Amino acid sequence: MTNKYKIAIIPGDGIGKEVIDAAISILNELNIDFDYEYGEAGDDCLEKTGTALPQETIDIVKNCDACLFGAAGETAADVIVKLRQELKMFANLRPVKSYPNTNSLTENIDFMIVRENTEGLYIANQEEITSNGAIAKRIITREAEERIIDYAFKYAIENNKSKVTCVHKANVLKKSDGLFKEIFYEIGEKYPDIEKEDFYVDATAMYLITQPQNFEIIVTTNLFGDILSDEGAGLVGGLGLIPSANIGKDGALFEPVHGSAPDIAGKGIANPIAMILSAVMMLRYLTENDSADRIENAILKLLNQGTVLTEDLGGKSTTLEVTNEIINLL
Ligand code: NAI
Ligand code: MG
Repeated sequence: MTNKYKIAIIPGDGIGKEVIDAAISILNELNIDFDYEYGEAGDDCLEKTGTALPQETIDIVKNCDACLFGAAGETAADVIVKLRQELKMFANLRPVKSYPNTNSLTENIDFMIVRENTEGLYIANQEEITSNGAIAKRIITREAEERIIDYAFKYAIENNKSKVTCVHKANVLKKSDGLFKEIFYEIGEKYPDIEKEDFYVDATAMYLITQPQNFEIIVTTNLFGDILSDEGAGLVGGLGLIPSANIGKDGALFEPVHGSAPDIAGKGIANPIAMILSAVMMLRYLTENDSADRIENAILKLLNQGTVLTEDLGGKSTTLEVTNEIINLL
């Protein structure tokens, strides 16, 4: 055994509980020592304890090196938004990567969306009803935007990427996104070896379809990142494949993009790959890159051979069969 990590495990509801078991059985195959601490959260937890996110669970997450989160049901927003706030997780990472034998629109797509997660247009209690309608404020602070942009450049260096693209709407939002763009090039001066470019968000929405291979890392504000990352998910096809990360100074949480999928929960047929790729992102965060590569290569082999797949990818295999096949291929 090499390094030892404390990992918070929040299975949540529905298929969250099924796919998290899959991820843990894969992690247990590695030559790394993990201590798991389980926390409750979600709809079932609300019914049982009267709260969807008990303080005890928050404390577990705070005391661990990282957290794996399955999915919650109707309480998802309460649980995940509160956890993001409690752990000050300012960066939302959404990889967009094409894999073989999936519904990806084209091949060779591999970029990361780095989305600012704490301000922009999504600030709680900043909407107001006025006499003739409503107003929402869009907040851009130097501190938060410098932090996310610097994170994007550091991420580029740590992951051998050569370019960061800043996405904004500075032609219309001259002050707020004007500042965002200005900070991008300011911070960029600290990273002379990384190529910089910037695009308007509307043009980017089109380029993601017409030339997705052009992108390596996109850094953008909260709302634009939210929209572009779902476009990215559509580009590479299928919720069963898409992981994500929330990163902060005091902690990090890794979760599939999908929800609790009540329509298939309990049947043992959920695709575990999104959750397992979330664990791969966690391994990279813990700088266990060799283990991350091992798992990702095994998933690549599984998809290339195309024989052991869940229903959402056109196969007939169960969650357990897919998980065991990934273990075989490790
Ligand atoms: P969903 O992601 O749970 O399901 C959408 C569709 O995709 C369903 O047909 C489902 O069967 C399928 N699907 C999702 N993940 C899959 C997987 N791993 N393998 C195979 N098929 C998969 O989204 P939906 O239906 O909008 O929401 C269901 C519940 O999940 C709601 O209560 C919602 O609030 C919650 N939710 C929670 C999230 C979270 O915990 N982060 C995120 C999104 C939704
Ligand atoms: Mg969204």
